[in-house]
Amino acid sequence: MEAGDDSGMKRLVDVFTSSILLGAIALGIMLVLVLSLSSRFESPKEKVFGCGNISMEKGGDLSKTLSLGNAAHGKELFDDNCASCHNIHKVMVGPALKGILERRKMNWIIRWVRNPAQMVASKDPYAMKLAKEYESAGIMTGFGALKKKDIEDIMAYVGSY
Ligand code: HEC
Repeated sequence: MEAGDDSGMKRLVDVFTSSILLGAIALGIMLVLVLSLSSRFESPKEKVFGCGNISMEKGGDLSKTLSLGNAAHGKELFDDNCASCHNIHKVMVGPALKGILERRKMNWIIRWVRNPAQMVASKDPYAMKLAKEYESAGIMTGFGALKKKDIEDIMAYVGSY
């Protein structure tokens, strides 16, 4: 009788400790889940299009342009006016435009697209360097008829890559 009681007690303790263990494991799994979920929603501004941290120092207009611009309209304008010399990903007559919003500010891009020759003439250092690099292509055609909004739309399209 006594021995039986003892082992019965032991089994009870075993069940008790193993259920505590299981509970702890379940709690651990839940914690990991909650943590990984919450880190996914952290600081969405830093993760524009899944590119990781984008430096906002040189250009800094990336997210603004992407949210303001109409990329579908931009694609039309790009195909009509720019695609003969530019590709997003590869160098053609002119440079590949991918990452341009990180290289240059929107203001600069607008001035450049509307009148590149004047930018070079006014000795803008970046424009001069660019013109030298692409000397054989000549200076890019200016698009004085494009409005600020049009160029922002083109950049929204370009920036979507
Ligand atoms: C006739 C060819 C041609 C056309 C058309 C053209 N570009 Fe260019 N683009 C160039 C060349 C060449 C350069 C390099 C600088 C130079 O030599 O003028 C350039 C440079 C640029 C740059 C600077 C790129 C960088 O990496 O710094 C931007 C931005 C740009 N073009 C935007 C546009 C946009 C937007 C359009 C359409 C509205 C356009 N270009 C149409 C030839 C062209």
